Amino acid sequence: MPPNIVDVPFQQDPEKVYNEAELGKPAASQPAVAGSQDNYILIIIQSTLNLLAHVCIGATAGVNLLFALRNGLPLGATPLHVLLCVLGYQLLMAEAILSLSPHNGWSSRLKFVDKRRAHWILQLLGSGLALAGCFIKILDKNIHWDTLHGQFALVSMVFTTVSLVNGLTSLYAYELSKFRLSPNLSKLTHIIFGIVGFAAASISLCYGYDKAQFRSWASDNFTTAMISFAGALTFIIIINPFITFFNKSRGLFKNN
Ligand code: HEM
Repeated sequence: MPPNIVDVPFQQDPEKVYNEAELGKPAASQPAVAGSQDNYILIIIQSTLNLLAHVCIGATAGVNLLFALRNGLPLGATPLHVLLCVLGYQLLMAEAILSLSPHNGWSSRLKFVDKRRAHWILQLLGSGLALAGCFIKILDKNIHWDTLHGQFALVSMVFTTVSLVNGLTSLYAYELSKFRLSPNLSKLTHIIFGIVGFAAASISLCYGYDKAQFRSWASDNFTTAMISFAGALTFIIIINPFITFFNKSRGLFKNN
């Protein structure tokens, strides 16, 4: 565990965790005011969006798995590329970002230190698979970055790599602050690089769906549905990092 992390003890009572974390006060002292009702509605909306994101992640990963395996094994360069890129970006990296969201189903009960651990393990695995998938296709081609699909993929590769390195400086932000590196600044850049990398990968995926080989396998209507799923999951997943980004940047300006 990096030394800058405070290990919060696990709380057994879910209702107490909910009331104190989300509404800011212990259950007994909650006043019945309109504000907490608004908060309650917002929490329900965010939990529902989280569920929707998981449905879209499952549909995207599942359909791409079927597409990549449509001709059986062994996999050619393009199917292997699709499989690794989608599992890396839209499954593992998506779950890595979601793991830090307070409304995420599987991680909401984890201690903060374990959420961070899950985040960097998933992020490392996801980036590794996604970059490997990209390089397999790059090695398979002779002319590069001649399509919008490839160009957005290049943006995602650059930002994913930078965000990965920057993730380490965020993990050790406290230690680096001794060298006059602002902890908030390295976290802010990590968030923004991560958002751009993930969003660019989703745009690249949509251009991938638009290719004749996918359209002829999936049909036009189903391709439109898959593009909508990719758009929806990307939008839902980047909401929380955006909120964190604005909160942290407000803090940065207040401190200066
Ligand atoms: C997140 C998902 C994806 C990423 C990050 C990605 C990334 C890439 C990259 C880096 C290249 C090489 C570009 C170049 O060297 O010019 C490429 C090419 C290619 N990809 Fe993908 N890809 C993804 C999904 C897909 C999907 C779903 C298909 C489905 C058919 C697909 C089919 C192709 C094809 C046919 C090429 C060669 C033609 C071209 O460059 O446009 N990819 N992809």
